[in-house]
Amino acid sequence: MDILKMVRKSCLRFQPYLSGRSVESLKRECGLKSIIKLASNENALGPSKKAIKSIKTNVEKVFTYPDSTSYELKKALSERYQLPVGNIFTGAGGDEIIELIARLFFNPEDEIIVSKHSFIRYAMAVELMGSKAIVVPMKDGFRYDLLALAKACNENTKAVFVTNPNNPTGTYVTKAEIAEFFEKLPVNKFGAKPIVVLDEAYFEYAVLEKDYPNGLDFLKDNPNLIIFRTFSKIYGLAGLRVAYGFANEEIVNYIERIRPPFNVNLLAQVAAVASITDNEQVKKSQKLIKKEKVYLYKEFEKLKIKYIKTAANFILFDSSPLKGIELFREFLKGGVIVRAMDEYELPYWVRVTVSIHEENELFIKKLKKCVKV
Ligand SMILES: Cc1ncc(COP(=O)(O)O)c(C=O)c1O
Repeated sequence: MDILKMVRKSCLRFQPYLSGRSVESLKRECGLKSIIKLASNENALGPSKKAIKSIKTNVEKVFTYPDSTSYELKKALSERYQLPVGNIFTGAGGDEIIELIARLFFNPEDEIIVSKHSFIRYAMAVELMGSKAIVVPMKDGFRYDLLALAKACNENTKAVFVTNPNNPTGTYVTKAEIAEFFEKLPVNKFGAKPIVVLDEAYFEYAVLEKDYPNGLDFLKDNPNLIIFRTFSKIYGLAGLRVAYGFANEEIVNYIERIRPPFNVNLLAQVAAVASITDNEQVKKSQKLIKKEKVYLYKEFEKLKIKYIKTAANFILFDSSPLKGIELFREFLKGGVIVRAMDEYELPYWVRVTVSIHEENELFIKKLKKCVKV
C-alpha cells in the first residue's frame, strides 16, 4: 500500500519545525551534567508564584475536561485589557493560534505575505494549507519593511503576518509605521483589505521601548486585524502551552467554531488567570532583561562582535567568521544551548536568549573561548 499517495500534497515535502535543543536531549547525548538553554526565549525566572500555587491547587482536577470556552481566562484578559470577551480567543500557544488562522482563512489559491528573517511558523502554516507564501525582504537588513509588505499585496493576497518585535532580529516597528501600513494595504478580490496578523509574543518586554506601539490601539478601526500574545515568554508558562488573541467579534466567532473543543488545558487556564494579575512577576522580569541586555551589549562590544539591539529577551549576533551552526556546536560542547539561524536564512548569525546574570556570564565566558580572546 502506498500511503504517500494518500497524504495531502501540501504535506508531502513538509519539514518539521526545529525547536531549540532541549536540556534533556543534550544530557542524554553528551553526558554533560550542567547545561543551560538560551535557545527558546523562555523566562529563566520562571512563572509567577501565584501561577504555581494555582497549578498545585488544581492539579487533582485534571481528570476533568477543561472549560472548553476558557471563560475565566477570557474574563481576566477582558478586565486587564478593557475589551469585551467577544473580542478575545485563546489557543494552545501562539503556534496553535497561527494554525487556527491558517485553517480559517487560507485556500490553496491564496497568497500570504511574510517577511524575510521572521518567525518561520507563519510560512509553515501557509505551506500546510497548500497556499503560497510571498517573502518580502527586510529593510536595513533587519527591520520589517511594512510598506514593502503592503506593496507586495495583490488581488490574491489573503493575509499579511507582522511580528512586533520580530523574532529573531529583536527589532520593532513604530505606531506611525503601522498606521501608514494599514492605510496603504490595497483591497483584494474579496473586496476587503487582507487579514493582518500581528504577533506580539514579546509584547511585555517591548513595552519598555518608548515608541513601541500597542496593537490594540488599531483594533477598533481595522476589522481585518488579528493580534495575538502568549504566556510562554515573560509569563514563564511555555510548558503549559497557552496564548490568546484579539480580533473583531466575527473573526473570533469563526475561530471559536473551528478550534479543537478543549484546546487550552485545565492547568494552563488556571495558571494563565493567576499570571495575568501578577504585575510583580512581569515587572521583575522586565527589570532583569533591561539590565542584562545592557550587560550583554557591552560584552559584545568589548569582543567586537556585531549584534542587533533588541526590544525582546533575545539578541541576534554575528558569528562570523564561524558559521552560526559551527558556533552553536562549540557552545554545545560547553553545555550552553544557543540557536543557529540557518532556517531564518542568516547562516552567520546566532540568537541567544537573555537570561539571569549567572547564565549570561557563563554564555560570555564560553563565547570568549569560541572567539579565542
Ligand atoms: C514571534 C513568536 N511568535 C509566536 C511564538 C509561539 O510561542 P508559543 O507557541 O509558545 O505561544 C514564538 C515562540 O518562540 C515566537 O517567537
